[in-house]
Amino acid sequence: MITHDLLIIGGGLAGMRAALEAGKNVDVAVVSKIHPLRSHSGAAQGGIAAVLDGWAQNIGDSLESHIQDTVKGSDYLGDQDAIEILCNEAPGDIRVLDRMGALFSRTDEGRIAQRDFGGHSYARTCYASDKTGHILLQTLYEQMMKQRVKVYPEWHVVSLIIHKNICRGLVAYDMVRGELQVIRAKAILFATGGYGRAYGITSNAHANTGDGLALAYRAGVPLQDMEFVQFHPTGLYRHGILITEGARGEGGYLINKDGERFMERYAPNKMELASRDVVSRAVQTEIDEGRGIDGHVHLDLRHLGKELIMSRLSQIHDIALSFSGIDCTVDPIPIQPTAHYSMGGIPTDVDGRVPGFSGLFAAGECACVSVHGANRLGGNSMLETIVFGRRAGIKAAEYVKKTTLQPMPADALPLIEQKIKLMINNKGEENAANISVELQSNMTLKCGIFRDIDGLTQMQQLIIALKERFKNIGLRDWGMTFNTELIEALELKNILDFSQIIVAGALAREESRGAHSRTDFPNRDDEHWMKHTLAYQGGQGPVLDYKPVIITRYNPQRRVY
Ligand code: FUM
Repeated sequence: MITHDLLIIGGGLAGMRAALEAGKNVDVAVVSKIHPLRSHSGAAQGGIAAVLDGWAQNIGDSLESHIQDTVKGSDYLGDQDAIEILCNEAPGDIRVLDRMGALFSRTDEGRIAQRDFGGHSYARTCYASDKTGHILLQTLYEQMMKQRVKVYPEWHVVSLIIHKNICRGLVAYDMVRGELQVIRAKAILFATGGYGRAYGITSNAHANTGDGLALAYRAGVPLQDMEFVQFHPTGLYRHGILITEGARGEGGYLINKDGERFMERYAPNKMELASRDVVSRAVQTEIDEGRGIDGHVHLDLRHLGKELIMSRLSQIHDIALSFSGIDCTVDPIPIQPTAHYSMGGIPTDVDGRVPGFSGLFAAGECACVSVHGANRLGGNSMLETIVFGRRAGIKAAEYVKKTTLQPMPADALPLIEQKIKLMINNKGEENAANISVELQSNMTLKCGIFRDIDGLTQMQQLIIALKERFKNIGLRDWGMTFNTELIEALELKNILDFSQIIVAGALAREESRGAHSRTDFPNRDDEHWMKHTLAYQGGQGPVLDYKPVIITRYNPQRRVY
């Protein structure tokens, strides 16, 4: 049987950063359903936020300002101890990436260039043109290969093996060989990314089906703050593909059908660089109130000039041209909000440990530390993967060094084999793709940027009905070798489970905070709702509980931009 000290599930930025750190001291392996270089982290375009201390470029910027912006951006739901760590450790982590060889864009003096991003008071987002995630992914992968970390690519984890709240390993489907495999380990670290694929219009890769969250949930871990889903204001119309905030950071602006720069009415001080939740609501309001153009508004970059666009925003030039036939040096880009980021996830402490379990860790988008609270600032996501990936890797290695391998229950593999066989042999008439489309389009409509009791209640009932239909799906591929239909079915089961949690949390939270905007409860209600949601698996669906927000120095204020 395959055995490692530490298994990291997910090969994106958080997983690789954790692997590099842990791999210095213990035997670590990365299990990933896609090759690490195809991870969704590669789609992060605009940059990674950090106050690069002592540099003349941003006179007046400070770690304190980054912390304050992040707390305010989170609409006061972020845990402030974690936010302080995120911002304080950012400069050191950027220096490490730089030394590893990450090709950051440079100023004329040779310093790492930094651009404006929404909700930040200073231009502090370090970038590599508009391909920052891609560059960091390549950098970490090279380092991981140099360190000879073992990778199991195209292995889809089907079940965790946890007994008496102690981690023992996992069962994974090796897609290429068409086999189920048990891997024993002293600890598991989740780095499985987000859950944007619950939505019809999303910037997320097809792989972002929240698998890690669903696995953890079924193993008894409560999921935290799942109702907070970030909509990025500028997704390419109809496709949802990200058009980076860096475009607005470089001076691009938003206009409606009358050519009006409408952000003047919503955020007169910060305009297009207000926090993402604010800009997304503004874009959606323009569209809903008839000031859009056939369901979209325009992002205008023409005034930036071809030279700047081709040097700093060449990827979005390419995306707009390839997918919409728009040359953004000549015409504005049609955009609409797109489901982009999952603020909720697996609860952890500031060292990636999952409370209540031995040998379980999480980092990156699938984790909820919580540094983003109700709304994440752009540039803080890649930062979280690097800072908390590193921290979780260190603590996971420390844990496995002082722990012995636990016995594996004898029925671990047979139980999963039986489940998979049942799924493959089920002769039902339903089709996973149809159920997915119905779920995703309704999530966008009823549990999207704006929510209310009627839409959420309908959505709750629809999910119950879709879960019933799921029991009746039939696969047409009955083999085990690279059975993508089987993978889609397993992913859909995960999406159905956590969508139910998103809706339950959104229905219960009778206030508007950050990305959670209830039209029937339009105000933030600190007295009743300044708390994190925890959703436990119950017999009839999620059971909700709450826990306090950690406040260190910043009391809630009215949030204006
Ligand atoms: O707009 C962007 O480039 C996205 C960055 C982020 O989500 O942090």
